[in-house]
Amino acid sequence: MNTAPLRIAVAGLGTVGGGVLKALQTRGGELAERAGRRLDVVAVSAREREKPRAADISGIAWVDDPSALASADADVVVELMGGEDGAALALIEAALSSNKHVVTANKALLARHGARLAALAERSGLALKFEAAAAGGIPIVKALRESLIAHGINSVCGILNGTCNFILTEMEKTGRGFADVLKDAQALGYAEADPALDIGGGDTAHKLALLSSLAFGTVPDLEHMHVEGIAAIMPEDIRYAREFGFRIKLLGVARRVGAGIEQRVRPAMVRAGTPLGEASGAFNAVAVDAGEAGPFFFEGRGAGAGPTASAVIADLVDIALGSFEPAFGKPAHTLTPLVPAPATDASSAFYLRFNVLDIPGVVAEIAGHLADAGVSIESMLQRGRNPGEAVSIVMITHDTPQASVTRALKAIARSDKVLGSPGVIPMELG
Ligand SMILES: NC(=O)c1ccc[n+]([C@@H]2O[C@H](COP(=O)([O-])OP(=O)(O)OC[C@H]3O[C@@H](n4cnc5c(N)ncnc54)[C@H](OP(=O)(O)O)[C@@H]3O)[C@@H](O)[C@H]2O)c1
Repeated sequence: MNTAPLRIAVAGLGTVGGGVLKALQTRGGELAERAGRRLDVVAVSAREREKPRAADISGIAWVDDPSALASADADVVVELMGGEDGAALALIEAALSSNKHVVTANKALLARHGARLAALAERSGLALKFEAAAAGGIPIVKALRESLIAHGINSVCGILNGTCNFILTEMEKTGRGFADVLKDAQALGYAEADPALDIGGGDTAHKLALLSSLAFGTVPDLEHMHVEGIAAIMPEDIRYAREFGFRIKLLGVARRVGAGIEQRVRPAMVRAGTPLGEASGAFNAVAVDAGEAGPFFFEGRGAGAGPTASAVIADLVDIALGSFEPAFGKPAHTLTPLVPAPATDASSAFYLRFNVLDIPGVVAEIAGHLADAGVSIESMLQRGRNPGEAVSIVMITHDTPQASVTRALKAIARSDKVLGSPGVIPMELG
């Protein structure tokens, strides 16, 4: 057993990097006992040398150019700078080519380059580990890669972006609109100044691509993924969801459908009172259907210094113990291209909200178009009675192919009694 200290070089000393250094400094003794050897940070890099940091870096070698860490006297390079290309990619490639293990939290980079980097690591018997890249502190990467492999995975369904979950939870609690709550989330530091990647669903997509690859043994694939964000969610949709006993969550869902895999990021109605429906605020949660092993549910913090450092350090301890699997669970050359499930196979129940003129016959007209397309209604409610003015009609459908709903909505859009765009949100009932 190797008992020499594991020498670690860290690029990026922001939220995650600062948290990792701090935890290694405060819990170094205990971690060394678990790892069977010391975990020593021997070199660091960031943009600004003089910036105050969460941990003391005075005794650690500093390099200005992060790619120089690839040639530092280290066993592992920890990439915590971010960015899907640029300095982060250059460093990881250089580190793996220089015989160094790599740990990263960079989902954007791995979703695009993960399979190629995994192959590069495996050629030299090196680790490429990324527990912090999906759902932060939740150990979902290890669970899918190592623990839930016996029976195969049928589906992974997650609330993977804490910013979106915080915004949706606040909208429900306060009844306020999306734009208003987003401003609060930015002021509180939950949302970036440029929140596009979070609220547009891109960040969830990156994480889902990694979880899907781990679950199904496929190459991470962003191309065959439907991605919608939360900006179009209206306060009334959240209110009606509640009346029906549901909450709206931004879900990343990857599941087997026939011989293919369906990957979707979109707002969905989740039943209140279920574990996924109750995961609120900035929390992340992941539900896994692991076949004969049954359903599993994971919940925890998906972001922040403490949770992400926890995940990075777990990866470092595995490397120190010499215990590491191929990055995506299977040797990289055996990962298969993802075969997308045909869009025609996608079906679910739907929430539909129409703003209509309150005149006789309007409900019958909408119901008629839905029936013509083969969409049957499970329940309906109508709010407001102001003859000649707009009222809302809300319907929950039975399980229906997405294509049938689209066909019905096209016909309904031609009606002069229906105002504006309808609210259309799938129900996640599994
Ligand atoms: N924040 C989270 O909760 C969280 C959760 C999961 C995953 N992640 C991932 O973890 C990574 C780091 O995120 P973070 O939130 O810690 O970011 P951050 O707070 O913005 O920190 C980034 C760090 O990288 C340094 N850096 C950036 N570009 C650099 C460059 N070109 N050369 C040298 N140093 C550079 C910055 O230097 P300066 O400090 O000098 O500016 C900073 O220390 C990202 O991939 C992110 O997606 C973050």
